[in-house]
Amino acid sequence: MTHDTVITGYQVVAASGNTYCDIGITNGQIATLGLDLEGTEIIDGAGLIALPGGIDSHVHISQPSGPGIEMADDFTTGTRSAACGGNTTILPFCLPEEGQSLREAVAAYRAKADGNCLTDVSFHLIVKKTDPVTMGQDLPALIKSGYTSFKVFMTYADLALSDRQILDVMAVAKEHNAMVMVHAENEDAIEFLCDKAERAGEISPYHHAATRPVPVEREATHRAISLAEIAGVPLTIVHVSNGETTDEIMRARQRGLTIFAETCPQYITLTAQDLDRDGFDGAKYVCSPPPRTTEEWPKIWSGIEKGVFDIFSSDHCPFRFNDLTGKNAPGARQSFRNIPNGIPGVETRLPILFSEGVVKKRISLERFAAITATNHARLYGLYPRKGSITVGADADIALWDPTLSKTIRQADLHHGSDYTPWEGFELTGWPVRTILRGVTVMKDGTPASVPIGQYLERGAPDFI
Ligand code: URP
Ligand code: ZN
Ligand code: ZN
Repeated sequence: MTHDTVITGYQVVAASGNTYCDIGITNGQIATLGLDLEGTEIIDGAGLIALPGGIDSHVHISQPSGPGIEMADDFTTGTRSAACGGNTTILPFCLPEEGQSLREAVAAYRAKADGNCLTDVSFHLIVKKTDPVTMGQDLPALIKSGYTSFKVFMTYADLALSDRQILDVMAVAKEHNAMVMVHAENEDAIEFLCDKAERAGEISPYHHAATRPVPVEREATHRAISLAEIAGVPLTIVHVSNGETTDEIMRARQRGLTIFAETCPQYITLTAQDLDRDGFDGAKYVCSPPPRTTEEWPKIWSGIEKGVFDIFSSDHCPFRFNDLTGKNAPGARQSFRNIPNGIPGVETRLPILFSEGVVKKRISLERFAAITATNHARLYGLYPRKGSITVGADADIALWDPTLSKTIRQADLHHGSDYTPWEGFELTGWPVRTILRGVTVMKDGTPASVPIGQYLERGAPDFI
């Protein structure tokens, strides 16, 4: 049998384990894993490693961010950046604008993405209102049509839900078999600390981190887990930043609860001191939860190694720095409260984990594949079509050169932001080719020009 494309000479991190074989691709799907396969197009690259195309299940693209504030990425730049970082699918969040219903928001968001993507995309919902129409009609209908995960916030004045509202959302998830994701930080405690800091004149970017200390996250995580226990639903805790919060998750699992957890590159590479950089440069690192201390890094690594963290995402939430619509928003220099929260990272997530994790022998290639692709697909209803190199799956593959050493430079990245928090980081191991459904969308750092990305309808979460 002749395939459309055969990838030869590769170490393959397949669903069945780390092996050496050819990959035969026909009609955009993996048709054969075997030796000496025949194909019309041959991709040869001995010395490379074929990994499942990355799935980044926590990104923010074109998300409404308040009056006068604009996210630095639309679907064109966001998915271009993702593809250049070895990703083949991303899952951004759909947040209704003021006065918009959830269904209207989804329609508008779909229109922004359609025809503009270089990776495949699907959307989580953000539930910020629990009125009868949202809860009784929109949410159930949207789950039925493939929006099977949604995020609730315990912080941010305009998004935070009360415990009762979170329980009501969890009840809908339980009834309709969807996944709840939670941003766990205690809003009242943060407001208390922010007021205190401002009264003391502590207004620089660093105080964003100081007013969101670890107990704020640990307490909210404990409470979110308790609410999930009461509602009887699984729960995903996103962007976990520290050891005490990790301990809460381990304790919950020991009690038999189904809790999933995510962490991100910023919590193993950045610290709160980055928010204290000279001038206003600290604003480049303002995100929530904030980066912590170097003492927290080994605790997060331990969670990555031992399986506390099911998924490793970027929480890509890009703003421009030298821009009044971004980090230099009006009032931002007068108080950290006015600095838009979030950092870019969709293109650097995988190289950072590969270099710091695989090359430094903290994690195996199989674990890398699990926490960067397979588990994302399972948790969010895309498995087995996405997330693994297996016969019958979409041919979404990233080819990695494990020996290529390069320094992260803003000038080499493809996002819409004008900086990267990882400027100057030296990494070994980079994706050199990204293949989406059999088509090359990035080669040697250059993105393809035709946006072949599709919208993905998702099934129910597969509770790993
Ligand atoms: O600071 C962050 N992480 N902004 C993005 C929104 C969120 O909470 O994930
Ligand atoms: Zn969040
Ligand atoms: Zn986020």
